[in-house]
Amino acid sequence: MTTTQTAMARAGTSSRDRARKHVRHFLADFATLQREYPDGYPKMIVRGEGAYVFDEEGNRLLDAGSHLGACQIGHGRAEVARRIADQVKELEFIALDAGISHIYVAELAERLSEIVVCDEPVFSFTNSGSESNELAFKIARTFHARRGEPNRTKIVSRLGSYHGSSIAASAATGVAAFRSGFGPLAPDFLQTEPPTRDGFGHRESSSAAELSLPELEALIAREGPETIAAVIAEPVAIPGAVKIPHSDYFKGLRRICDAHGLLLIIDEVVCGFGRTGRMFGAEHFGVSGDIVTYAKGLTSGYIPMGAVAVSGKVNEVFLKTPLLHLNTYAGHPVACAAALAALDVTEDEHLVENAAEMEAVLRDELNRMRQSVPRIKEVTAIGLLSSVISDVSDVADPDVTIRKLRKDAYDAGLLVRVARDGTNMSAHFYPPLVVGRRDIEDGVRALEVALRKV
Ligand SMILES: Cc1ncc(COP(=O)(O)O)c(C=O)c1O
Repeated sequence: MTTTQTAMARAGTSSRDRARKHVRHFLADFATLQREYPDGYPKMIVRGEGAYVFDEEGNRLLDAGSHLGACQIGHGRAEVARRIADQVKELEFIALDAGISHIYVAELAERLSEIVVCDEPVFSFTNSGSESNELAFKIARTFHARRGEPNRTKIVSRLGSYHGSSIAASAATGVAAFRSGFGPLAPDFLQTEPPTRDGFGHRESSSAAELSLPELEALIAREGPETIAAVIAEPVAIPGAVKIPHSDYFKGLRRICDAHGLLLIIDEVVCGFGRTGRMFGAEHFGVSGDIVTYAKGLTSGYIPMGAVAVSGKVNEVFLKTPLLHLNTYAGHPVACAAALAALDVTEDEHLVENAAEMEAVLRDELNRMRQSVPRIKEVTAIGLLSSVISDVSDVADPDVTIRKLRKDAYDAGLLVRVARDGTNMSAHFYPPLVVGRRDIEDGVRALEVALRKV
């Protein structure tokens, strides 16, 4: 027993009781869970190794989603732990303030500049994806203001997108559930139609109308391009389902941004660092962002860290007068060490290539499962990012069904993200990039067992 476990046992409370009492968990309604599964929740995870985690009872679970897309290199990496420990001993923290820098952030930024999809990139660092997008919005508005267009304040995003939890990132998010209940969000955020989904490049060509780009052009004409700062888009958005736009979509988006003087912000928070079978999602579409945001896979979740790359063109306006934006932990040395270690693992073990190779295995497995579960309407996979959409219009209470699916999957050895979208239920299956064929087969079989019980 660990010291903490011993202390808790002495106090007569389980870690589960303490978590339930003292910790706010998002999307967890403990009163309902307690009624439906007495003393079953929260599940207490104690350890991770590769693509798997272990709970207090010793159950081994494939983590196909509880890392929320952060864990690319797998759990429990001793080499990353060593680099983090060494960094803490060497220099745990110094802020990037008033002429002070450090060698670790310089090394990380140089390393990133060699791989990101952004021309002549210059980096700022943050602690999360939400913060990265917040900073991107500030940079976009300031960019235009400094160039004599202070009225360019509006940010356009797409319906069905997710960009984070802060007030402005929530305003950019195109999912009603994440936007409501908090009073007014940041002003000047607008949403346009998402691109049509056709499974990526499966058609020869497509018209602009098919890509939903006329809606964006109409919005720009209605609002006036001189009032719009930027468009923000994830290469592959995942709320509700993994939504892969047609291969022409981003080129069209880039053209529209250029024609109207808007900056293109690409949100690589989920897609970045190999998730889609390319190092960055934008590589599938042959476009470069003026501003690109990152988090999650940057450190593979070992230490929280986000980043924002701006192109040389955008950076020009900040050369004489820097952006006044303070963030205590930006470029934290320990996070830099984690990011550098995660990049080493990703490259040494060819994890991006593995994600690309495993895509076919994953898609085949999901399609096989589809044959035995008639309520599945759609499966989508790109790299190791996938979703299974099921029709739950016939069930009495889809929320009860979703909680049961999570529980049945857990009991079958799988952590999978399940959410509701109207009368659809989406199961997102996105394991660490270290998985092999057998892990995917076992994981999808566990999902199949759970789905067949719906
Ligand atoms: C595409 C995208 N952008 C931004 C965010 C926000 O990141 P964070 O939760 O680290 O603030 C997320 C989180 O899931 C995301 O998926």
